[in-house]
Amino acid sequence: MRRLRARESLRRLVRETHLEPSQLILPLFVCPGEGVRREIGAMPGNYQLSVDELVKECAEARRLGLGGVILFGIPESKDEMASGAYADDGIVQRAVRAVKQEVPDLVVITDVCNCEYTSHGHCGKVVNGEVDNDATLEWLAATAVSHARAGADIVAPSDMMDGRVAAIRRALDAAGFPHTPILSYAAKYASVFYGPFREAAESAPRFGDRRSYQMDPPNAREALREIELDIEEGADIVMVKPALPYLDIIRQARDRFDVPLAAYQVSGEFSMIVAAARNGWIDRERAMMETLLAIRRAGADLILTYFAREAARLLS
Ligand code: PBG
Repeated sequence: MRRLRARESLRRLVRETHLEPSQLILPLFVCPGEGVRREIGAMPGNYQLSVDELVKECAEARRLGLGGVILFGIPESKDEMASGAYADDGIVQRAVRAVKQEVPDLVVITDVCNCEYTSHGHCGKVVNGEVDNDATLEWLAATAVSHARAGADIVAPSDMMDGRVAAIRRALDAAGFPHTPILSYAAKYASVFYGPFREAAESAPRFGDRRSYQMDPPNAREALREIELDIEEGADIVMVKPALPYLDIIRQARDRFDVPLAAYQVSGEFSMIVAAARNGWIDRERAMMETLLAIRRAGADLILTYFAREAARLLS
């Protein structure tokens, strides 16, 4: 077995898995104001960006040949009804318009969820202390339509309400956006690895947790049911999230379904590598490339990752 491992030129010749900038999607956080570039403590090198700064970041993503960006919004104010999520002049809607104006051929994906917009931090409408599934669907559908109207190329629901893909598809079609694809966070687990993101998006729930809607980590078959339902409801791309702790789910989804498959290397996965590297305990670049290639090898076509820029620079 060692003959073909002897030199990099030979290893390269027989390499089974490849990583391309076009397979990477960069998550970005947009906030109100002008000239704002506020570093996120638990995610070094990532920022809350005002729209003008976001546009610069998107131009860079385009230059690097990234597959696209996914936008998360931090609104001016939050309320019980998540009104900032579906307002036509909401923060994400304004950001999408600006980016599509300045960098028209960059793929802009929008995260469709309520947790950044509700005063309680849950992903849906709270009725009698619980997240009401069907009432939340209306908000999600309205948000997706407002993003499409602003020019989003793809909408990505991450809330984990049942039936939301069908509700969003129906609403998009009715509003004149039959060509806007849906990337669904189909198998999204109630994971500890979202910790740093909740600082970035200011979206930690004020009471309870997300276990009544996000998946229970020990379950694998259930993930396949979630994915199957989302495809039936009209999802064009399905996602598994987080990535590295759920490589088995990525592999099973790849073997079972033929739609494009995405995986999200989430904030905690990113921050662990960065923190260990800062301590001199691990090599940052090699850990980045090894984990990204592992996610690809498991079967993901696309990877959402905070390393997108750095990996693309290394690959070019
Ligand atoms: C919104 C959402 C979350 C993430 C993506 N979309 C947070 C959550 O569910 O609490 C996490 C992404 C990351 O950790 O990088 N619902």
